[in-house]
Amino acid sequence: MFDIRRYDVVDSTQELAKELLATGAHEHLVVDAAQQRKGKGRLDREWISPHGGLYLSVVLRHHPLLPVLAAVAVARALRAFDLPVTIKWPNDILLEEKKIAGILTELHKGFGIVGIGVNIVAMPVSGATSVHATGATKVSRDAVVDMILTHVAALEAEDPESWLRYFKNLSSTLGRHVRIQQLNGTVEGLAIDVDVQGALIIQTHSTTTTVTYGDCIHLR
Ligand code: BTN
Repeated sequence: MFDIRRYDVVDSTQELAKELLATGAHEHLVVDAAQQRKGKGRLDREWISPHGGLYLSVVLRHHPLLPVLAAVAVARALRAFDLPVTIKWPNDILLEEKKIAGILTELHKGFGIVGIGVNIVAMPVSGATSVHATGATKVSRDAVVDMILTHVAALEAEDPESWLRYFKNLSSTLGRHVRIQQLNGTVEGLAIDVDVQGALIIQTHSTTTTVTYGDCIHLR
């Protein structure tokens, strides 16, 4: 089902997926690299990508809830290896409140390009964790890649309402007091729901605010 192209070193699997799309690649193309020179994170950040990590870009049919599908697929994949991860809105994967995986979804020529980075061996950023740091040193990156793709395929066969339901069940943000940092300020309050677009609904005093992007900090 997936057309998997494997590389040793690339600048960014996201950018390579876009180039391959321009030369005739299509939905279900997967770019899998062992290392990235210019890994891209959310909000124009760098994703430090040393050898031994998992760097994947998956081309899927566009849907506004693709970031939700991706977060559920990655969380389920890691849970299959007995890592009890949760999802921090919008789609960071946490283990014991430390980031173990990140997801960047971009819209390109009508496709959704879902970029997935999982810390397998190293923890390139302070405050993060990795699969091997938890003691699961026998879990290989290739096994995690296979498991993620298996869950992506299974979720694609279900309706987006189910993706959202699973996402809410795996969320460690809902029910928490959060601060969302956006370009033009912050929103603070109780995270009460995720809407059908994947936006976070926050109760602030007597009103609710819907946030569509930003950095989420769990306060308590
Ligand atoms: C985040 O900031 O949390 C998202 C990180 C996404 C990183 C992945 S690694 C594979 C793909 N290629 C990239 O350049 N970025 C994404």
